[in-house]
Amino acid sequence: MKSDINIKKLKEFAGQSVTLNGWVYNKRSGGKVRFIILRDGTGLLQCVLFKGNVSEDVFERFNLLNQESSVQVTGNVKVEERAPGGVELDVTDFSIIGNSENYPITPKEHGIEFLIDHRHLWIRSKRQMAILRIRHRIVKAIRDFFDERDFTLFDPPIITPNACEGTSTLFETEYFDLGKAYLTQSGQLYAEAGALALGKVYTFGPTFRAEKSKTRRHLTEFWMVEPEMAFYDLNDDMDLAEEFLEYIVQTVLKDMQTELAALERDVTKLQKVRRPFPRISYTDAVEILRKKGVDFEWGNDFGAADETLISEDYDQPVLVHRYPSEVKAFYMKRDPDNPKVALAVDVLAPEGYGEIIGGSQREDDYDLLLKRIKEHDLPVEFFDWYLDLRKYGSVPHAGFGLGLERTVSWICGLEHLREAIPFPRMIYRNTP
Ligand code: 4AD
Ligand code: MG
Repeated sequence: MKSDINIKKLKEFAGQSVTLNGWVYNKRSGGKVRFIILRDGTGLLQCVLFKGNVSEDVFERFNLLNQESSVQVTGNVKVEERAPGGVELDVTDFSIIGNSENYPITPKEHGIEFLIDHRHLWIRSKRQMAILRIRHRIVKAIRDFFDERDFTLFDPPIITPNACEGTSTLFETEYFDLGKAYLTQSGQLYAEAGALALGKVYTFGPTFRAEKSKTRRHLTEFWMVEPEMAFYDLNDDMDLAEEFLEYIVQTVLKDMQTELAALERDVTKLQKVRRPFPRISYTDAVEILRKKGVDFEWGNDFGAADETLISEDYDQPVLVHRYPSEVKAFYMKRDPDNPKVALAVDVLAPEGYGEIIGGSQREDDYDLLLKRIKEHDLPVEFFDWYLDLRKYGSVPHAGFGLGLERTVSWICGLEHLREAIPFPRMIYRNTP
């Protein structure tokens, strides 16, 4: 049953007879010729049945095929420059494996709610397959980037006793006799322990936020990659973030041309994602907003509309650094030159995609960190181990978190994060 040949590598088999497994993406007929558009997960292939070349039986069997019927097709691989992928299949035989009556997603337009209700089938469409393959390529690029730079993958726990990114977005659960536990919002605090053990680490996994907001940029379950580096300051952190983003975008541009074309992505925008990226302070960003007529008070956090205004004049992602410490997390180190601001950085993607990275240099002083934990009303007893990191060989260290779905969404040019993950979780949806 299994076939070692797939549509993606079919060109290597030009002139040979092959057998492929897949599903009927579409079909159509002309006079003496029938076409099956075959889908196998690696691409789409035009399969041609000529009346004279196949038996009467095989030719008639074509009529039994429906959209998404599963099939095994045998035929000769023919070079056809006009076909997508450069080849088509001259069919000699095929069999139906599983029928598919009344497939709900037809080539006509469907509403978005209908499509998400049928997400388990929607992912079979050309557009969704392209997005999911690009997501996979981005994940691999992320891992390659860190693996090639002597980082160690470090897996933090998902079940945690305390908050990392504010207490308002915690998913809570009863944990046996130990009281409440929470789904992790970020692996960062554990990554810091990892960095002090292994030098440079990265975490990569699902994170959870009970976000009450119903925006196109928020999921309640999303994937985050978080590098954490000992002996890095904010500048080193920003250099790494820049190199990292350039690497991801240029890798996708190089390897995923077919998929980007399927999405009709304007790749000229992505080609401009080359270092150096602009770096501006929060205070400069506030000035930009004011010049554009926004009545913005220093000390507030930026909303999505502000982020778009700040980044719209640039082709590259913009690094905004040194935010007011009041709007940022407890673990961020204050700027020694101006304690009102934290040594934080947010990276805003171009084209209005907003924040894709949040990072900072961490508070490495025991007393100051303890003070911040208390100021933020966090339960000190759960931070004992975290404070230990400042007691035994504390060093300057820094890191950042990149949201995977926001990155996929930007690179693919999507309207909404829900298409960037196989099964999106949002405030009003936890199915299918
Ligand atoms: O800015 P955030 O909250 O930073 C942290 O969690 C730090 N602990 C990271 C670190 O320094 N190690 O989140 C980081 C990124 C955001 O920039 C965004 O891309 C993504 O995670 N993100 C979300 N993505 C989808 N849905 C949500 N609700 C998200 N919240 C954050
Ligand atoms: Mg943030």
